[in-house]
Amino acid sequence: MADSTAPSPRATSNRSTTPHSSGFSDFISSGWAERVDAEVVPREQAAFAAARRERLSQLHVGQRLILPAGSAKVRSNDTDYPFRAHSTFAHVTGWGSDVVAGSVLVMEPTASGHDATLYFRPAAGRDTNEFYANPDVGEFWTGPRPSLANVATDLGVATAPLADFDAVLDRVDASTLIVRDADRDVTDQVDGRRLLAADSEALEHDGDDELSRNLSELRLVKDSYEVAEMRGAVDATQMGFNDVVADLPNIVEHTRGERLVEGTFNRRARAEGNTVGYDTIAASGPHACVLHWTRNDGPVKPGDLILIDAGIELDSYYTADITRTLPISGTFTEVQRRVYDAVLEAADAAFAIVRPGIKFRDIHAEAMRVIAEKTAEWGLLPVSAEESLEADKQFHRRYMVHGTSHHLGIDVHDCAAARRDMYLDGVLEPGMVFTIEPGLYFQPDDITVPEEYRGIGVRIEDDILVTEDGAENLSVNIPRTADAVEAWIARS
Ligand code: GLY
Ligand code: MN
Ligand code: MN
Repeated sequence: MADSTAPSPRATSNRSTTPHSSGFSDFISSGWAERVDAEVVPREQAAFAAARRERLSQLHVGQRLILPAGSAKVRSNDTDYPFRAHSTFAHVTGWGSDVVAGSVLVMEPTASGHDATLYFRPAAGRDTNEFYANPDVGEFWTGPRPSLANVATDLGVATAPLADFDAVLDRVDASTLIVRDADRDVTDQVDGRRLLAADSEALEHDGDDELSRNLSELRLVKDSYEVAEMRGAVDATQMGFNDVVADLPNIVEHTRGERLVEGTFNRRARAEGNTVGYDTIAASGPHACVLHWTRNDGPVKPGDLILIDAGIELDSYYTADITRTLPISGTFTEVQRRVYDAVLEAADAAFAIVRPGIKFRDIHAEAMRVIAEKTAEWGLLPVSAEESLEADKQFHRRYMVHGTSHHLGIDVHDCAAARRDMYLDGVLEPGMVFTIEPGLYFQPDDITVPEEYRGIGVRIEDDILVTEDGAENLSVNIPRTADAVEAWIARS
């Protein structure tokens, strides 16, 4: 049956439209072979998602929780950006790149916890005109959708048609919370109902903020499924880096070689995963001093370094975040190697202290100790390294203005809504995954540094898992030392 929530197609003036005659409708609605629902088995992540919902339930006793997946965002006119579900939705449903846009998970409070129901727009029948006449969601246009029964088995959660979500909206009251930034339309509807229920003109969002905070903090420690996905994302990313290194001879030939780096990596990302976890940074020569250089329209010239910060996101949405800095000609100059080795020393020093029980912020402090010592040793600081490390000095930060680490997972900057006490000031636990990514960046016009340093930017970024008694560098097999990087390029 038709789902009454199917959106009307967007305006199609000046485009050919499907005939509306009843004769045509009858004709196109008939003559189709019987559909048999494909057999599905619960996906591996389903049990893990159920456990995450259980933990969420315990944090929000008696509250109705609404977690929308969101919908595709308009890029221009009637074309959209590729749809990606909100990370909170993906985490607690286990649904990844095959999410049906517009879905909503509702956790309804019960005497003993919550009942979860996943509302989504299921497959539309051929007795509707949606399947052939709706370019936004019709099967002829965007492909088939799964049935309610299939998703219920696949994800191990009760399902209901999106049309029934209206009944949930009718129950919205002051104890209902929503993830606000997932789907503006749903949030507006929930806000409207809560305003009515509260009989007031203003609404605080403290409860919603608490929900987002809890959902972020639930992701600070990864379960075994998530750790396996992180390993998979790193492995795929390693293939992408290998592809780029092998393609360097073509890359240097093109006037926009950085774009070729991006394209080569993207090819692997689409082949092995869902897509890239964030826009690839392909920063050659002085572009490496722009921390998030994603324009990627420059040449890749022998003699320069190229900083490549890239990660592949799997279909589960878990992503790697890895940076390597390569000498384009295949060998580092003496000064390039000096800077590279300093950054590597900072990364290794930071990694060496990682174990359960230390504070997250200690990792940054350790990397900064090395960065301060090196920049002082080279005569770049107006004070000693020791003095520069004082809280109100920090002169070495001129050459590395970013932090050393961030949590990593289903978002590249994962757990962003976690409380400071749990994140920056938090204590490491086994199962946490984060980056260690020190760098040194000498801007081309920075006259505080000798000329030979200007225009050099180096970052080395690895993905780290905290283990029971220490840490594992998940990306250690992507060449890291200057010698290993040169050998990598030589054998490619
Ligand atoms: N790729 C962005 C970052 O390293 O945080
Ligand atoms: Mn990072
Ligand atoms: Mn990065």
